[in-house]
Amino acid sequence: MLTRLESDIQEILLSEEEIEAKVKELGERISEDYQDRELVIVGVLRGAFLFLSDLIRHIKVPISVDFVAISSYGGYTESSGVVKIVKDLDESIEGRHILIVEDIVDTGLTLDYLLRIIRARKPASVKVCALLDKPTRRQVEVDIHYKGFEIPDKFVVGYGLDFNQRYRNLPFVGVLKPDVYAGK
Ligand code: IMP
Ligand code: MG
Repeated sequence: MLTRLESDIQEILLSEEEIEAKVKELGERISEDYQDRELVIVGVLRGAFLFLSDLIRHIKVPISVDFVAISSYGGYTESSGVVKIVKDLDESIEGRHILIVEDIVDTGLTLDYLLRIIRARKPASVKVCALLDKPTRRQVEVDIHYKGFEIPDKFVVGYGLDFNQRYRNLPFVGVLKPDVYAGK
């Protein structure tokens, strides 16, 4: 049976099982790389909250978790590149090892902005973990050290990603039917 949410989906891009396997693999790589260190996981709200909560269960080194919220001005499916912090980190990150956790890197503008702010605070190191990457849309170059999946230039929702704050609770990543956002 299709739920009301599922009937807005054109195609499932990544199944629940595929995501689960990839998240485990990423967590294991991170655990290996940070064996003798302690990490501050910085989640980018809101899209990354679901990925982050699954990912950290596969990280076997001591961590703390902090969040930033960033707003970007633009249309519903495009970011304009004008970004600002709407919720800052609660902890000091000076001298600490930072892992930024993002849902998706599209133009790269959000991440580029966040990286500048974080680097200015003199952490010991900064790396990026992103579940999804749309490389064809990139406007600024950003290094993604831990990448889940490269996806085509399609607007996706589910597993934390939204359209108009909806669909975050879908357990898979799917392509939204264009008529859902047409006219917005
Ligand atoms: P960027 O600044 O263009 O890289 O945009 C990054 C942010 O835009 C992500 O953190 C998402 O919140 C949002 N975004 C980009 N592409 C999508 C998409 O396909 N679905 C849902 N949100 C997206
Ligand atoms: Mg986001």
